[in-house]
Amino acid sequence: MKRLSKAISSYRNEYKGAALIESRISKNPLAQFEHWMDEAIKKKVSEPTAMTLATVNKKLQPSARIVLLKGIDKKGFVFYTNYKSEKGSNLEKNKLCCLNFFWAKVQRQVRIYGKAEKVSSKESDAYFASRPRASQVSVFASPQSEVIRNRAFLDVRFAIYDGFFKDKKIQRPAHWGGYRVIPSSIEFWQGRTNRLHDRLLFTKMKNGKWKLERLSP
Ligand SMILES: Cc1cc2nc3c(=O)[nH]c(=O)nc-3n(C[C@H](O)[C@H](O)[C@H](O)COP(=O)(O)O)c2cc1C
Repeated sequence: MKRLSKAISSYRNEYKGAALIESRISKNPLAQFEHWMDEAIKKKVSEPTAMTLATVNKKLQPSARIVLLKGIDKKGFVFYTNYKSEKGSNLEKNKLCCLNFFWAKVQRQVRIYGKAEKVSSKESDAYFASRPRASQVSVFASPQSEVIRNRAFLDVRFAIYDGFFKDKKIQRPAHWGGYRVIPSSIEFWQGRTNRLHDRLLFTKMKNGKWKLERLSP
């Protein structure tokens, strides 16, 4: 334990990414995000679409977990989940949430504050239909976030639903679908030398335009 504790406290990584400059960043943060995501994919960053989603429950206890980004458009960032999960029940009561991407290989972080809204049934249906069959079956088999007896509980339920849907088209259940996080602000972070990183923050103003400010690292 002591050895590990020392290894953790002495772990250092030098950041030396290229400058992130106001004059070179897109005026629209969603376009800038697409540009960075495109680079992350081209540079083979590990799990580029994985993002941390933070929500808050009614006792104001925050919780965070990884979900996968499945779509981006002018309105926001889409992910899919079980609406009855912990995150789903948090978002039911409080739509405010935060997304965070960390792309270690390119020393970049993107933080998004916003409100999560359910996507239309049509959009969720279309995405559900595009998933592999086993993933569709697992949506029925797994009561996400609930305490279960043991591993066998899941395997047995999977086998039951797998048999039940044999040779049938599987329809999306109502408790599973997408959320779109509508951003109110988006911060781009680029690691730089001497811990003097670049942080550029876009905030949506009342007139719908984006304000751009630089934050101290
Ligand atoms: C790489 C990775 C990708 C994941 N993608 C999703 C996802 O897209 N949707 C989802 O509901 N859970 C996803 N999970 C599982 C969640 O992190 C989490 O365990 C689950 O959604 C239950 O969260 P909750 O109890 O806070 O609601 C992913 C986990 C990892 C590590």
